[in-house]
Amino acid sequence: MAGRRRVRGVDERAPEEVGVGPWTGAWPTLADGRPDPAYDTELLREGDRRNVVDRYRYWTHEAIVADLDAQRHDFHVAVENWGHDFNIGSVIRTANAFNAKAFHIIGKRRWNRRGAMVTDRYQHEHHHPTVDDLVAWADGVPLIGIDNLPGSRPLETYDLPRECVLVFGQEGPGLSDDMREACDVVLHIEQFGSTRSINAGAAAAVAMHAWVRRHVFGQAVDIGPSRSSGE
Ligand SMILES: C[S@@+](CC[C@H](N)C(=O)[O-])C[C@H]1O[C@@H](n2cnc3c(N)ncnc32)[C@H](O)[C@@H]1O
Repeated sequence: MAGRRRVRGVDERAPEEVGVGPWTGAWPTLADGRPDPAYDTELLREGDRRNVVDRYRYWTHEAIVADLDAQRHDFHVAVENWGHDFNIGSVIRTANAFNAKAFHIIGKRRWNRRGAMVTDRYQHEHHHPTVDDLVAWADGVPLIGIDNLPGSRPLETYDLPRECVLVFGQEGPGLSDDMREACDVVLHIEQFGSTRSINAGAAAAVAMHAWVRRHVFGQAVDIGPSRSSGE
């Protein structure tokens, strides 16, 4: 499906301009000559300035989501949202980039979407008012807490399961006590500087990429000497 919709007829554009201008030439059709419904006629006419990769240029929103759905990865992303942390948007944007199965907001329903850059609209969003609700939803799928807490284990030497929920905390307290208890394991990203922690969005990118390296690229973890806690 993706190979059929090559971006042809793309306008020359100034380097600072995002996206592409109006489609030039004949509009894309199916094999039988009918207009291809995966393409958005308004975008074909006006140009496509959305924050999407080039293979999705001019596609309808629904067609993009359907294509992503067909190849989503087996990890979920969950973020605690008790204090309207502005970092959540960055976590959700990264979940889109790595094509997580879905993202989960734990706590308050309203979350700070600013950093998400509209990427949430291409994903599946679940809301769980409490940690127990997330646990009930997961129904045995491992909850992998990501935080540098006493007793946490190094992400770098942990064999992440294919199907899992990567759970992130918020600025300040990190994972709540309830969430720590609910998680099957808590993993920290090794740090080497003076700061106590990295930004939650940065931590999310590292953790999701660890999953991608393990399960998309088949890179087994190297169980070398490691520290036992995040302290
Ligand atoms: C600012 S940190 C939380 C506070 C941190 N536990 C502390 O002791 O200062 C916010 C979130 O970012 C993520 N995070 C930040 N640094 C991390 C690290 N080194 N390893 C794993 N997660 C980290 C975690 O999800 C954490 O809940």
